[in-house]
Amino acid sequence: MSDQNIVTTLSERILTLRFNRPEKKNAITSAMYTQMADALLAAEENPDVRVVLIAGTADIFCSGNDLQDFLAGEGSIHDMPVARFLRTLSVFTKPVVAAVNGPAVGIGTTLLLHCDLVYAGEGARLQLPFVNLGICPEFCSSYLLPRIMGHVKAAELILLGDAFSAQKAFELGLVNAVVPAAEVEPLALEKARRLAQQAPNALRISKMLMKRFNDSTMATALTVELDHFGQLLHGPELKEAVGAFMEKRKPDFSSFN
Ligand code: COA
Repeated sequence: MSDQNIVTTLSERILTLRFNRPEKKNAITSAMYTQMADALLAAEENPDVRVVLIAGTADIFCSGNDLQDFLAGEGSIHDMPVARFLRTLSVFTKPVVAAVNGPAVGIGTTLLLHCDLVYAGEGARLQLPFVNLGICPEFCSSYLLPRIMGHVKAAELILLGDAFSAQKAFELGLVNAVVPAAEVEPLALEKARRLAQQAPNALRISKMLMKRFNDSTMATALTVELDHFGQLLHGPELKEAVGAFMEKRKPDFSSFN
């Protein structure tokens, strides 16, 4: 399915989900969220899938939510395809490995918090520009990031929203290893192959045991974040930020209270 914006391939019991919209830097549209959620739900039921690998294209992992799709969304955010994807990946029971090359922005970074192994290329750049866009963190990141790295480090990433290097992500505990770009996917695949050969029930139960103390808090975080995100989505700050991005200028928030 290589004409798709999400390319899915199943080989050696590893389901690969690959962002494939390089002309828009792999920005995720509603249709792509639906495709990924459907693929994950099917993978959950399919005994031929033991591991999921998430990857991008050569120079870009994912530039986050499609900014124009953001503005086009109507109705409750809880009913949108993005919310279905968040709910599906956050409770996915089989191991998930990520291979990150190039920019990983917004949900391109927060989805990594729901992967079990993350490998990044030396040139990878992560970024959480939610506040910069007039919105707020999602995908449990407001809960998980302070828990992983402490409040002040998480606050720096979230409130200032600057891009940071793969090496910094490694030091902060967001990725397992940083390797030359060409080695990222082979390394991620090697780890995925090893996971695919492990005892599947023992793997699933071990993943569940590591996450279970967080389950209800994560579900609450995901919902409360979306409540706020949904409100900000229809607000003037995002409109200004997206307009600025499209017009290649700096946003001007000086008139907002
Ligand atoms: N949504 C929609 N379109 C996007 C996009 C996004 N998230 N990210 C990039 N694009 C589009 C650009 O508008 C541009 O389209 P055009 O060629 O029709 O003008 C094209 O992809 C290339 O983007 P460009 O910014 O020129 O690429 P770059 O290599 O200089 O920078 C990024 C790459 C990812 C750093 C940069 O595009 C970026 O910051 N994107 C926005 C990320 C963002 O804010 N995401 C939302 C997070 S919540």
